[in-house]
Amino acid sequence: METRQLNKEGRELWNRKARFWDELHGDEGNLFHRRLVEPSILQLLALQNGERVLDVGCGNGALARRLAGKGANITALDFSEEMIRLAKGRGFASDIDYRIVDATDKDALLSLGTAHFDAIVCSMTLMDIPIVAPLFEAASELLRAEGRFVFATMHPSFNSNNPVFFQEKQDRDGVVTRVAGVKILAYLDLPPVKGSGAPGEPAPHYYYHRPLSALFQEAFEAGFLLDGLLEPAFSPEDADLGPELSWTGMWQIPPVLSARLRLA
Ligand SMILES: C[S@@+](CC[C@H](N)C(=O)[O-])C[C@H]1O[C@@H](n2cnc3c(N)ncnc32)[C@H](O)[C@@H]1O
Repeated sequence: METRQLNKEGRELWNRKARFWDELHGDEGNLFHRRLVEPSILQLLALQNGERVLDVGCGNGALARRLAGKGANITALDFSEEMIRLAKGRGFASDIDYRIVDATDKDALLSLGTAHFDAIVCSMTLMDIPIVAPLFEAASELLRAEGRFVFATMHPSFNSNNPVFFQEKQDRDGVVTRVAGVKILAYLDLPPVKGSGAPGEPAPHYYYHRPLSALFQEAFEAGFLLDGLLEPAFSPEDADLGPELSWTGMWQIPPVLSARLRLA
């Protein structure tokens, strides 16, 4: 299917499941976001009071509210009208400038103001976008010269296009234990596949796998350098927080990759 058509279908799917997503994440994001995504973004962002930040693919605005609460001046965009409506409905003491903008539309992105932002954040959205070159290209113009682009995405090496989880029983020195992990069956060249971000999702959407080399190449070609990288994972204390065979039980495998890019 052609990129524009895929993106159009993506918008319809996100509109259909916006309410589910909003309820799943509530005011502050779900466990995955609170434990892995948000702390890694905050660490890489190192936000200064009063900075202008653009949140790309803001969903129900959980990260936007968090950053606004830390004194940032936030513009938050999403291509789903329904998601923006729900984000606005959650309200916030200070103003968040919510916009309906398609992150594959470079001109629409640039209309937000060139050399205007101190930082751009993109939380768990790049893997949902069929083409990321327009976003990186626009970002290089939206940012001030010292600006940074911080993103978190599903880890391309371990958590991309529906990884297969396994659990096995082993008897070592007379002690029977269970070991769990992820099987990677392919990495370099995978077509988009639909997946459910969470059990019970009403409208599975396409995920776009990019090997690390391809993902960062898109950023490098737009003039960015990589200067920060985190691979957050759950820890043994989290084991009971999720269902069996989930990321909360895999402490050696990071499901998220977070990166900071700066203009060369
Ligand atoms: C997985 S959610 C992440 C939401 C939020 N950033 C978070 O971390 O909770 C992906 C979001 O990206 C939005 N999105 C997907 N493709 C987009 C596009 N082309 N332009 C703008 N937003 C897009 C979806 O509507 C959805 O709200």
